[in-house]
Amino acid sequence: MASIPRSQALDVDSILHQLTEEFEVSPDRIRTIIKQFNEEMEKGLDHEGATVPMIPSFVTGRPTGTEIGRYLALDLGGTNLRVCEFELKGKGKGYSVHQQKYVVSDQLKTGEMRHLCDFIADCVDNFISERGADHLEEALQLGFTFSFPVLQTDINRGTLMHWTKGFNCSGAINKDVVVMLQDAFLRKNINVHIAAIVNDTVGTLMAHTYLHPETTIGVILGTGTNACYYEKLAGIKKWKSEKKFEDMVVNMEWGAFDNERRVLPLTLYDNKLDRESINPRQQIFEKMISGMYLGEIVRNAMLNLVDQWMLFDGQSSSELNRQWGFETAYMSTIIADDSPALASTQHVLQDILMIPVTTTIDDRKIVKHICELVALRAARLSAAGIGAVLSHTGDINRPSVVAIDGSVYEFLPNFETNMITTLSELFGHSIEGRLKLSLAKDGSGFGAAIVAMVAHKAALAAAA
Ligand code: GLC
Repeated sequence: MASIPRSQALDVDSILHQLTEEFEVSPDRIRTIIKQFNEEMEKGLDHEGATVPMIPSFVTGRPTGTEIGRYLALDLGGTNLRVCEFELKGKGKGYSVHQQKYVVSDQLKTGEMRHLCDFIADCVDNFISERGADHLEEALQLGFTFSFPVLQTDINRGTLMHWTKGFNCSGAINKDVVVMLQDAFLRKNINVHIAAIVNDTVGTLMAHTYLHPETTIGVILGTGTNACYYEKLAGIKKWKSEKKFEDMVVNMEWGAFDNERRVLPLTLYDNKLDRESINPRQQIFEKMISGMYLGEIVRNAMLNLVDQWMLFDGQSSSELNRQWGFETAYMSTIIADDSPALASTQHVLQDILMIPVTTTIDDRKIVKHICELVALRAARLSAAGIGAVLSHTGDINRPSVVAIDGSVYEFLPNFETNMITTLSELFGHSIEGRLKLSLAKDGSGFGAAIVAMVAHKAALAAAA
């Protein structure tokens, strides 16, 4: 059988150029995205059932730093389950924390919700007995960071709208997740009361606001992506309750932005990823930005070139052929690789992905270029999301702080710089003096503990 002569097909510069064009998000495109984002935000604030659901979190006001007491926090939604105990020490004194991580198996992530709740309850039980807190008379108060779209009806009530990020437990959609987990505690005689359910963006915002009151937006750029911000009561047009407040944190669930695919610059690699995912046509924005997906986009782009004999002499490996076989963490290694021969890139390709040929310097350059482009596009889209929130609130013209957590933001080289460059391109360089992007590492648990404390105190006051 005749094979395509490699030399005819391969012209590195034109391959690099074509890739650049495919992954480009021009300033004009970003402006269109922001405009669309603002329209979607308005719809979400106006009525239920919008694509970007703009969920009121029932968190009003800002922490004051005077919060005191011992609170548990539970964090589910990323790679691990974390159980933490926080001791809030009051103004200026911060807090101390003890924590334990537990691995959530794929089986639990896609099995029955009841089993997942039993597992979580067992982890909490194990944690509190190790902390020697299992014989207390009073129930321990817990803030539950549950990082999925939950339609809240109170600070500790809310039904799961749908799963994201590879979770797919049966028997949970449209059910109150707090009731389900509280039941598991009851079944197992664990004396813990869920005082608040909190999205991770909200936890991150709260934790950062505790130390920096000028913080107005919380963003996660990790396994998934999402944002929350303070919205005025008058802005939440769909708010029907008697309860009045000045402003409330709104969990946007921005990962669902443009599920209709009107404005996002989707490539065939994104479409392939989406089609093969467990939630096709959902979380389209998230799938272009977050850590669960970026490696898969790179893998799809690499395979497309392999199939055209433009990469690795047309050879793949079973590792590279496997869905999710290229981890987003490899992108960090490859982007950071500045050695003349791209030795770390070669290591990833040949020793981890087991590409069966000795990769050429051109192969490695192409792979590095794909990683950089996919990361750059993610940074520009994240910046577009933040730009949309800032223009919605008017904070674009005021000094403001955005609290950001997540592996994509923390570990992908140049991610923050690329976000800032994009924002300056859109709003002028003066924005660099007004806007601060700030890493809020592991804040969501602490934030949940603060919210639990405020909710618990309010419940005690109401009962008195
Ligand atoms: C997903 C979830 C959302 C969460 C985000 C970051 O988008 O739906 O609730 O905040 O991931 O973890």
